[in-house]
Amino acid sequence: MASWQRQAFNIEEMRRLAKRALPKPVFDFADGGAEDERTLRRNEEDFSAYRFLPQPLRGAGSVDLSTTIFGTPLSMPFVLGPTGLAGLFWPDGERETARAAAKAGTIYCLSHGSVCRLEDLNANDMGPRWMQVFIYRDRGFTFELASRAAAANYSALILTIDNQYLGRRERDLVNGFSIPPRFGPLDLLAMASKTGWMRRMIPELPRITFGNYVRAGEASDIKTLAGRMQSLLDPAMSWKDVDELRKAWKGPLIIKGLLHPEDAREAVNRGVDGLIVSNHGGRQLDDAISGISALSPIVKAVDGKIPVMVDGGFRRGSDIVKALALGAKLCLIGRPHLWGVSVAGEAGVSHVIDIFRQEMTRTMGLLGANSIAEIKPDMIIAP
Ligand SMILES: Cc1cc2nc3c(=O)[nH]c(=O)nc-3n(C[C@H](O)[C@H](O)[C@H](O)COP(=O)(O)O)c2cc1C
Repeated sequence: MASWQRQAFNIEEMRRLAKRALPKPVFDFADGGAEDERTLRRNEEDFSAYRFLPQPLRGAGSVDLSTTIFGTPLSMPFVLGPTGLAGLFWPDGERETARAAAKAGTIYCLSHGSVCRLEDLNANDMGPRWMQVFIYRDRGFTFELASRAAAANYSALILTIDNQYLGRRERDLVNGFSIPPRFGPLDLLAMASKTGWMRRMIPELPRITFGNYVRAGEASDIKTLAGRMQSLLDPAMSWKDVDELRKAWKGPLIIKGLLHPEDAREAVNRGVDGLIVSNHGGRQLDDAISGISALSPIVKAVDGKIPVMVDGGFRRGSDIVKALALGAKLCLIGRPHLWGVSVAGEAGVSHVIDIFRQEMTRTMGLLGANSIAEIKPDMIIAP
């Protein structure tokens, strides 16, 4: 066992190791949130208001974490959520992460803003994958990404709806973080202790771009593409666009970034197959409600018609158990898998998955739940 594996016995330790490994602007790009970061903090803190009511004598002798989503079997009830630019943290970061997910028997969601092209995740060792897109001013581009995802056998499409204006991430402003990352002499001096990342990533930097936005015959440098991407986002998107995408995408369609129960009911009426209750990891609208606090009213509104998933601040296996007790079908983790890939590539992500798996197993055992189906609402007291 490598020394980092012994050290990283929980997700907070993994975060600390990632902080040590990454240049500050790169670490903060993932770690930070919008404006005063109140939603970012509450995503994590709000879990503590939910308390367990264990029933130890129910005999949880062999805890089974397996579940299914849209007919796909999963070895545990969480998947790896979409995060842009994973390839900035480790060479080929998206493929390293997807491989770890596949080996663990779960799903990797590829961000629209991946360094690799979505087609690069099409190998046999990648397992099932979901693709995430936005509604663009150029609707043709949204449909183009969806049809490329269908051709590359992505099994579900995630439409993220909370990114129509880019959140103001003030740590990035303070750090002068830019896309592409530029490092002046002072930055390089401050990065002298980040030798591993520099050795791995400096040769990669010229190749870092938004792979899915590259078009034949057009400029493909990351700066041009970042500009194009932002100008492509359409704040005027509406339910009509959901209807159009529903018609175009034949597989499961998931809306991510939904917090209002009325929107959840509307999504069900419009034939959406799944919801992800999310505030984008506190990176968009500061003071938006935390994922865990928004969950119950949405579960109630949906009334079992489609699966409700949730993300934001999941750092312990017990956080996942709480969400399941409140009616979530599964959870997504965001930053933890980025910290994992930053520390040791695929092995780091596998380690993060193992931490969650072990913590969930222990929590369920202590609660008296042998399986996901045995996690019940009466095992938790909500605030
Ligand atoms: C660096 C970073 C990039 C992200 N990029 C995307 C993205 O491209 N699309 C998307 O739908 N969500 C994106 N997210 C949000 C995540 O999918 C997820 O909602 C959030 O990270 C969950 O919170 P957590 O990080 O506390 O687990 C990103 C999050 C981070 C940290």
